[in-house]
Amino acid sequence: MKITGKALLAGVIGDPISHSLSPRIHNYWLEKYKIDGAYIPLDIPVGNLQKAVRGLTQIPNFRGINVTVPHKESVMAIVDEVDAIAKRIGAVNTLLFKDGRILATNTDAYGFIANLEQTIPRKPWIGKKAVVIGAGGAARAVCVGLLDTGVSEIVLLNRTHGKAEKIQYDFGAGITVVPWVSRSSVLGETSLLVNTTTLGMNGNEPLSIDLDYLPADAIVADIVYKPLETPLLKQARQRGNITVEGIGMLLHQAVAGFEAWFGVKPEVTKELETYVLQATS
Ligand code: ATR
Repeated sequence: MKITGKALLAGVIGDPISHSLSPRIHNYWLEKYKIDGAYIPLDIPVGNLQKAVRGLTQIPNFRGINVTVPHKESVMAIVDEVDAIAKRIGAVNTLLFKDGRILATNTDAYGFIANLEQTIPRKPWIGKKAVVIGAGGAARAVCVGLLDTGVSEIVLLNRTHGKAEKIQYDFGAGITVVPWVSRSSVLGETSLLVNTTTLGMNGNEPLSIDLDYLPADAIVADIVYKPLETPLLKQARQRGNITVEGIGMLLHQAVAGFEAWFGVKPEVTKELETYVLQATS
């Protein structure tokens, strides 16, 4: 597609930003749906956040941006409206510029659940227990997604126990916090196990966990996507569990922003996944 003078614009702000896969995802879709538009990486240091974002809203064809580290929490203070799901998660990853106003949301919970549902459409976790490992920003999004999709209980554990307790305090009933040392013994009667920590990522140590108590029909999901198959997913696959890779969450979280900015709901396909992964190898 040629970009004309009428092109619709969007982008992603962060610092650093050069590693972001979002430009690859959105520009793939712009090409696929033959939309006159462009999506660009914007390196915005912390001190320039407010001026930079307000400046972008002065450009009539700039429709909005994704927000990544380190701005996901601080950007909430400079927008006009934060929607309910972003407030619950406590962070924002998508802004829509509309009639001179900045509307903020968070699509990570949707991205996590949409990826699970695309992989396992019969949704066997509904009404059942899930175990979530970690208590950072990603864990908050995963917990919101799982609570809204109807799991009966989330058992949450984190190396730093207090951070898991804070999530329980914020989200209330439905979350049980157990000590980090119980991560293997707590797996009985679990329908879904999710790793939201950075353990297992290239360069980090793997998550040390014994899956012996995990039911054979449980699903194991990781939000890490470098490598695509983490040591946890490999361990789960080798004992026969269904596994869900982290790359799908990244692709699905991009859907809502693209639709809001460019007017087409894009599809997450195997071809897109392969194209995006080429940039990570
Ligand atoms: P994100 O916002 O992407 O979730 P984060 O807020 O830095 O990132 O959270 C990282 C998660 O990985 C946390 O749950 C962290 O545990 P702590 O809260 O105890 O720091 C977890 N994590 C990172 N390195 C870890 C390690 N070596 N062992 C156990 N957990 C680890």
